[in-house]
Amino acid sequence: MAAAALLLAACGGAAAIPNPTAKSVEYAQRNGQVTTLPTLKLGRKLYLSRCSSCHNLKAPKFLAPRDWPEMVERMAGNAQLTADQQRAVTQYLVSASAAAYDTSSVANPGAGKAPADTAPAGTPVH
Ligand code: HEC
Repeated sequence: MAAAALLLAACGGAAAIPNPTAKSVEYAQRNGQVTTLPTLKLGRKLYLSRCSSCHNLKAPKFLAPRDWPEMVERMAGNAQLTADQQRAVTQYLVSASAAAYDTSSVANPGAGKAPADTAPAGTPVH
């Protein structure tokens, strides 16, 4: 446990795996994931506990929101997730990635991966 905490600290601390807030539900929704705050919190908990045994955890912005479902699908067997757990992890990572891209565009201009589907609600994505 201490070693895992140190590893996380080395990659930017808990901020890299942010806690979901009420706004996270909206971010998830904008990216096609209908969810609740408790589910997102569960997803984060599962991500920390079930996805860190084989490799370091990636920050949610490692992938664009639209790319997480496929990745979690690929890793769900590795982590022995039930369908519900897989959904929670997916929804957490999608929403946290969308939140990261929404706020990191100033700090990190031109980050090539900023996805169109994090555009403000109401903006046409096509
Ligand atoms: C049993 C071991 C194991 C567990 C548990 C596991 N992974 Fe992985 N993961 C791997 C291996 C091996 C790779 C590299 C090969 C590959 O990409 O399939 C990988 C690669 C990845 C990558 C790509 C990293 C890169 O640098 O390209 C991501 C993202 C990822 N895993 C996410 C997750 C998530 C999310 C979970 C939990 C649902 C998880 N992993 C659980 C073994 C695991």
